[in-house]
Amino acid sequence: MSERLEQLIDMAWQAVEARVDITGKRRIRRPPTEALRNPRIESRFGDDFAALAELERALEIAADGELAQLAQGVASALGEFRWSQNASYTEDTVSRELLDGYTYAPLTGPDSPIRCEVPLAGFLLMTAHSHYRDHRHEAREIYLVLTPGSCWSLDSGDWFDVKPGDLIFHDSWQMHAMRTADEPLLAFAAWIESGDRNSIEI
Ligand SMILES: [Fe+2]
Repeated sequence: MSERLEQLIDMAWQAVEARVDITGKRRIRRPPTEALRNPRIESRFGDDFAALAELERALEIAADGELAQLAQGVASALGEFRWSQNASYTEDTVSRELLDGYTYAPLTGPDSPIRCEVPLAGFLLMTAHSHYRDHRHEAREIYLVLTPGSCWSLDSGDWFDVKPGDLIFHDSWQMHAMRTADEPLLAFAAWIESGDRNSIEI
């Protein structure tokens, strides 16, 4: 188990706990770590996801934002990241545009470097001009935005702008979508309870 990853995860959760979510003003507490109950692989790991071409740019713009220190932590730990996509996302279930537009590095979770049942937590990267369309899942989720210039939609509603430091909460089965403009999105993203990533409705 890597001390550097542990420190990065601690830093991310501290940033979450220092905020309230932007729509409900809720305080989100880091969930207690639960030992893995059901060993499973939910991710398709790789090192050639198209979105990775914009990782450097995402870190560059995150370094100017409110969560610059967290972005620095990400940059320092990148060597231990294992980038992935949800294994249930294929060309049969989602668009090629989405597969080329995002990747996720889980750090804690069922098939993560720090193995546990809860929380599933890591960093999401989306390219500029990409769209992670409406989707939902049972597990409640938080996102902590590190980069400027992205938009969010909840309950299939109007798009709203998000900025570095914004915390967004998705309730159980709440529809949500993300969209980028001229810059990539980097965000800390976590399921705060156990869930099945293969049952995401998209
Ligand atoms: Fe989600």
